[in-house]
Amino acid sequence: MPNTIVSPSLIRAALPFTWMAALAGLIGFGLRRADPVRRDSHALTPPDSRGSASAVSKAESASAATPPPAQDDPRARLGQAIFFDERLSRPAGTSCASCHDPRHGYAGNHGATIGVAAGSRPGHFARRNTPSVLYLRFVRRFQLEWDDEKEYPEASGGFFWDGRESSLSRLVRQPLLNPDEMNNPSEQAIAEKLRSSAYADALRLEFDGVFDTTENTLEALGLCLEAFLTSRKMSPFSSKFDDFVRGRAALTALEGEGLALFENPAKGACSGCHRIDPHSALPEASLLSDFGYDTVAVPRNRELPKNRAPAEFDLGLCEHKDPLRHTEDPWFCGAFRTPSLRNVALRERFMHNGAFDSLRRVVEFYATRNTNPARWYPSHPFDDLPERYHGYVNRSTPPYDQAADEPPRLSDHEIDAIVSFLGTLTDRDIPGE
Ligand code: HEC
Ligand code: HEC
Repeated sequence: MPNTIVSPSLIRAALPFTWMAALAGLIGFGLRRADPVRRDSHALTPPDSRGSASAVSKAESASAATPPPAQDDPRARLGQAIFFDERLSRPAGTSCASCHDPRHGYAGNHGATIGVAAGSRPGHFARRNTPSVLYLRFVRRFQLEWDDEKEYPEASGGFFWDGRESSLSRLVRQPLLNPDEMNNPSEQAIAEKLRSSAYADALRLEFDGVFDTTENTLEALGLCLEAFLTSRKMSPFSSKFDDFVRGRAALTALEGEGLALFENPAKGACSGCHRIDPHSALPEASLLSDFGYDTVAVPRNRELPKNRAPAEFDLGLCEHKDPLRHTEDPWFCGAFRTPSLRNVALRERFMHNGAFDSLRRVVEFYATRNTNPARWYPSHPFDDLPERYHGYVNRSTPPYDQAADEPPRLSDHEIDAIVSFLGTLTDRDIPGE
């Protein structure tokens, strides 16, 4: 749901001296890459790991406070081996990393070109576009916040595009059992593969009685994958943008302009949801998502076989029926969790349904969804959402608050600048196998 919009003057007043100096210097005097602008980072220390503690308790998973396991955690190492193990699908050949591919920033479509990933069997496709699994240790539990002044509550957190799962260690069973993903017939079949794996002895060393029951084995699998996914190296903070935030690198003039537009509430206003904290020299404060939900009304992806059925819709958040959380309420229909834009330039496809195949097109869409709807929706606006939910599409937040007869908030050049800035979010140190 839309975030509070801060006025441009407020943002200007609040921008810390160092960022402004960096931007002004760069835009005013051209490229100064060799002369990085220092930010004042002495007072800030990163939240540290808990040292030697290695077990990740299930109760803690998905909480923002989950401390990352130490770098040499044997469970994280085991989790990494499991993540890259191509024996774990039926037929063999598809690992977690086939879809969550390090070369694509742990997103990717496993060779498919329609917008969603191919599964382990020919002709089978995952339901949605693969999200990146980097930076997952910052995703909070699913929650609703009620505000008396608003008509409906704000949702945030939870895993998957619709936040339906709050425990990483439990979630990982789903791709393994999903017939359109890794297609294992049963939990026993998965446990059997782990028992005969190259790392079976390491599992025995780490977990007493790990192969005594299927449940023990699957629990150990979940804890290992969770330890790997929440490990420090899976949140690398090694992009040019991170170095800029730390005061150790400068952006080019075009990138700096893109960042300013990204933050400017009257222009891109992107950081209202893809959160950046201009006050902090800690990259952790700029995760490029607030993990909130929004109804962006991405166009229907007509390449998806399931979408040949006109009545087929992906309603996102309101699909996981949970009366206690009110997630079935109509205002959540069409809302998806805001993805972090870290490593976004490495993705193969964009948005929950993979409707876009280039980053520039995504930004063009934001700029012209309202001003030129015919360009995006061949039949009628918001064509991937049943009409009864069109009233909940976000039309109040820049950049897509313009009326049809107003000019777009972003010019072609400004779109280029934002795309150029998004390119600075690519990590240098993405862990491999
Ligand atoms: C065939 C492709 C495919 C394979 C294989 C696959 N995934 Fe995924 N993964 C997806 C898709 C698609 C989603 C999004 C599903 C949704 O939102 O409903 C996803 C979502 C996730 C998420 C949630 C991320 C977030 O930001 O909330 C995690 C964690 C995850 N997968 C881990 C794994 C693990 C671990 C494995 C291996 C056991 C695996 N995946 C195998 C396609 C795949
Ligand atoms: C009101 C909240 C909000 C604002 C403002 C916003 N976004 Fe998004 N963004 C989202 C949500 C939610 C999604 C996922 C939508 C979906 O898949 O249905 C998304 C998806 C994206 C994606 C695709 C990422 C991926 O992994 O597929 C990109 C790129 C992106 N936004 C860039 C931008 C840019 C650039 C701006 C500013 C011009 C912007 N966003 C403004 C909420 C927002």
